[in-house]
Amino acid sequence: MSTTPFGRRLCPVTESRASGGYRVFSLHDAEGPEPLPGQFYMLAAERRWGEGGARPFLPRALSVADVGNGGGGVRLDFLVEGVGPGSDRLCELAPGENVWVNGPLGNGFSAPGDLAPGAAGAILVGGGIGIAPLALLRRRFADRGVPVRVLLGFRDAAHSGGLDDLFACCEVGLASEDGHAGHRGYVTELLAAMLDGDDAASAAVYSCGPPAMLDAVAALCAERGVACELAMEAPMACGYGACFGCAVPKPDGGYMRLCVDGPVVRGG
Ligand SMILES: Cc1cc2nc3c(=O)[nH]c(=O)nc-3n(C[C@H](O)[C@H](O)[C@H](O)COP(=O)(O)OP(=O)(O)OC[C@H]3O[C@@H](n4cnc5c(N)ncnc54)[C@H](O)[C@@H]3O)c2cc1C
Ligand code: FES
Repeated sequence: MSTTPFGRRLCPVTESRASGGYRVFSLHDAEGPEPLPGQFYMLAAERRWGEGGARPFLPRALSVADVGNGGGGVRLDFLVEGVGPGSDRLCELAPGENVWVNGPLGNGFSAPGDLAPGAAGAILVGGGIGIAPLALLRRRFADRGVPVRVLLGFRDAAHSGGLDDLFACCEVGLASEDGHAGHRGYVTELLAAMLDGDDAASAAVYSCGPPAMLDAVAALCAERGVACELAMEAPMACGYGACFGCAVPKPDGGYMRLCVDGPVVRGG
């Protein structure tokens, strides 16, 4: 079996549990390299995937939310929200099943100092299921002694999760549109208040979430001269640059393939 990043391999499910309105499941990747925060995998269950002519057919993209070592390989944790046939099937995975895995794919987040020379700290801003890649990013920054502040927002209780599983060990500024947790409103309101109390050059912002939230984060950062990186999404068929299904327009003209030129892009 190939161990190259693009080599598809079967990995066993070792755990799957509910996490609020989402699910966390873990795979044991015996051969794959350890992923960078921001990278993603194309996943397809070995069974009940395209069988009987029913969707899902193509693999689905999921960001890696956490990793662990042990057992002679890498433990990959994913946070998934069931929104259709592919993600619903991934939510149903149980230990003992296998998943076809391709990855890690795409690029990762940069260090604060690489985004802005004076930036020593990081502000992570996540919305909904977009909190997933920020969990591993927070862990890696903490490992390297980078000061990190975390702001997470959810629509309502049914569309929230992952906090106890992925952010249990750190302080989180919370917002929810229905007021069930933390500040009632948008997480971008917490970000605006935080940036206004900051020296703009002291931290870089890292964000993942719904497109409208990412637009708001990018605008807030641009207004204040704060460097930011955004993890974006587009429907993906292959995940490694071959199908052009994930092409998105670039601000200066032309297109980029989000799976190879992203999913992490500079704000603006
Ligand atoms: C790089 C990347 C990382 C991702 N990480 C995660 C993750 O960590 N956890 C998670 O739960 N989901 C993640 N997603 C989204 C996930 O891939 C989709 O939710 C999933 O493919 C939907 O498939 P489905 O069969 O469940 O639903 P479908 O029926 O295929 O789609 C349901 C609805 O979502 C829309 N949609 C599907 N895929 C996308 C997309 N990529 N962007 C915008 N709209 C889409 C469809 O148009 C449709 O309206 C990620 C996507 C990308 C590209
Ligand atoms: S998903 Fe195929 S080119 Fe990006």
